[in-house]
Amino acid sequence: MKIIEANDYQDMSKIAADYIMKKVSTSPNIKLGLATGGTPTGIYSNLVADHRENGTTYRGVTSFNLDEYVGLSGTDPNSYRYYMDHHLFDHIDIQKENTFVPRGDMDNIQDGCAQYENLIQKRNGIDLQILGIGENGHIGFNEPGTSFESKTHVVQLTHSTREANARYFNSLEEVPTEAVTMGIGSIMKSREILLLISGEQKREALKKLFTGDVDESFPASVLKNHPYVTIIADKAAIGDLKVHS
Ligand code: GLP
Repeated sequence: MKIIEANDYQDMSKIAADYIMKKVSTSPNIKLGLATGGTPTGIYSNLVADHRENGTTYRGVTSFNLDEYVGLSGTDPNSYRYYMDHHLFDHIDIQKENTFVPRGDMDNIQDGCAQYENLIQKRNGIDLQILGIGENGHIGFNEPGTSFESKTHVVQLTHSTREANARYFNSLEEVPTEAVTMGIGSIMKSREILLLISGEQKREALKKLFTGDVDESFPASVLKNHPYVTIIADKAAIGDLKVHS
């Protein structure tokens, strides 16, 4: 794992956005894996600003999002489909039909999971996966204990994850209890991974990632087994951890 140190959240977002823009410019048909949550919003606003100012085009890009809440339709402002449209897709020239987010409102959610997994593989997989990390080390919505072999599946969200995400809802009770997420096995198939870590509240997670064992009790630790991972972390997340040996 290679790590790039950023001064702060703005700096991390800019470095990550530049990284993605460069990839999109050199590989116009790139397949991106995209993440939601608080961390990537700064990246997306940088991509939107660059698209407006410099015209970087996304016409040939395909995207697959990591996860979605069960029970929310894409028009619900708390759904991740809505988030992606609002923060990115509606402001760049990506073809909406080439943007995929797992559906949380299907009648047969298990079939939906299998279809999503097949779709990614049918399109020959993800070239560059953007990831955030939960305070408990979750990636996507793969909570501690999830099998490293897992494919797209339905998960029960932990209380801590629901609490962390309650800030987007009117109350904790409104936060769905389940989600669909790409599995850890699905994520690991991506050819390249860009992991973003920002803020003091993620310091423990970053430390565990660097100093802990590869173990299913800390999902992000699996990334140590991936050949091509770049972490962009800001000073608040790094603290006094020695990230370069
Ligand atoms: C959320 C998302 C993850 C995200 C993580 C961290 O629950 N499902 O994909 O990476 O938790 O979120 P944030 O960036 O808001 O800290």
